[in-house]
Amino acid sequence: MGKDSLTITDNRTGKGYEVPLRHGTIRAMDLRQVKTSPDDFGLMAYDPGYTNTASCESRITFIDGDKGILEYRGYPIEQLAEQGRYLETTYLLLNGELPTAAELAGWVRDVTHHTIVHENVKELMGGFRYDAHPMGMLMSTVAALSTFYPEARHVRDKAVRRRQIVRLIAKMPTLAAFAYRRSVGLPFVYPDNDLSYCGNFLQMMYRVSEARYHVNPVLERALEVLFILHADHEQNCSTSAVRSVGSSESDPYSATAAGIGALYGPLHGGANEQVLRMLKEIGSKDKVPAFIKEVKESGGEVRLMGFGHRVYKNYDPRAKIIKRMADQVFEVTGRNPLLEIALELERIALSDDYFLKRKLYPNVDFYSGLMYQAMGFPVDMFPVLFAIPRTSGWLAQWEEMLEDKDQKIARPRQVFLGPPRREYLPLEARSGAAALAVL
Ligand code: ACO
Repeated sequence: MGKDSLTITDNRTGKGYEVPLRHGTIRAMDLRQVKTSPDDFGLMAYDPGYTNTASCESRITFIDGDKGILEYRGYPIEQLAEQGRYLETTYLLLNGELPTAAELAGWVRDVTHHTIVHENVKELMGGFRYDAHPMGMLMSTVAALSTFYPEARHVRDKAVRRRQIVRLIAKMPTLAAFAYRRSVGLPFVYPDNDLSYCGNFLQMMYRVSEARYHVNPVLERALEVLFILHADHEQNCSTSAVRSVGSSESDPYSATAAGIGALYGPLHGGANEQVLRMLKEIGSKDKVPAFIKEVKESGGEVRLMGFGHRVYKNYDPRAKIIKRMADQVFEVTGRNPLLEIALELERIALSDDYFLKRKLYPNVDFYSGLMYQAMGFPVDMFPVLFAIPRTSGWLAQWEEMLEDKDQKIARPRQVFLGPPRREYLPLEARSGAAALAVL
């Protein structure tokens, strides 16, 4: 075995540099010594979208994208989804170990007793336009929680931090259900502490005038599994947003709101909403080949939503679990007619060179939307359903970031390609009608 270092030769100067390697990485700052002259700024790495840049060391979630492996704190996602509970998973993500029975009971009690929101939150949510998107409402309301808990800004105090973490995990289903009820003009339903985390969420979503809402155990379990699968996914777009905002030591409500903002986009948490829209637009199984042709000929403009992933270059393990679980859900709810189209899309795409060559496989969003729709959730709620469980991952990553001595305020560099220095021209000295028109 050779030395744990990298030798770089700068062909501009002929100089050689030895840069240490640690965990298969070099420190980007070690490149700065590579200069053509003393006043040269030094070498930087150019990496739009951070496709090959590790922004942190983490001990939370492991992904092997080529093999399709996902583990939380070392536990395979398949085992957690089959045998675990969602709140147990949140405990694991936050504390590094599975809870004992007593620890779990304490954790469940803490979360259950913080599900209620301040009455002013209700009024705040009542102020949104009647057709507001629930994800927009959720993002704004989570940000507003920082004004209800001003102590949250003391992010260096672990006890304060932990209180906000409990509040956020506990209140997220309440806010999500309130956002839905607001968007359909139904009165808000208060949390029921006798129900499980997912059972309570379902009753806050769907209870109308019945004295006690009956939660279907199959749907409750399916939701729980979906929450486990979505709880964390290492340094994805929204988690990086949370870490980035949190790195300035802003409070966790603001950082979580930033994560929700990132998750809102169609390339991230909005993808399963787009999958359903795409399936509806395709309309029937016989139109699938024509759609695949359109995707291939569009030069990347038309995408097969729910396919492809920055990290997985294999079948997303979460998609496999969801696909298996879909049958149990459809037994209760009836088969989603769009499933036929989805299965045909998958069948054709997985035997087509275009997709195989680019390693495009179904991701978590390909089947989750079909399940959510069968369970009665409108498509607007899909990203919200993602944000509820991902909050636990965001907060575990946020706390890890704060405790990591290596971390600093996130502040990337740029390669400046704009105009070189030039002198300001008074308006009258500039040519062109546009300048005169504003006078
Ligand atoms: N359909 C068709 N072609 C695709 C797709 C797709 N879904 N995804 C990628 N490609 C093609 C690109 O056009 C590109 O082709 P080219 O090499 O000929 O130019 C090649 O595959 C590589 O694509 P990139 O965009 O460079 O891959 P990247 O890693 O940046 O993107 C992403 C990953 C954003 C997830 C992408 O695959 C995508 O847009 N998928 C659809 C949206 C989606 O399902 N998002 C959910 C992701 S999972 C999650 O966030 C929970």
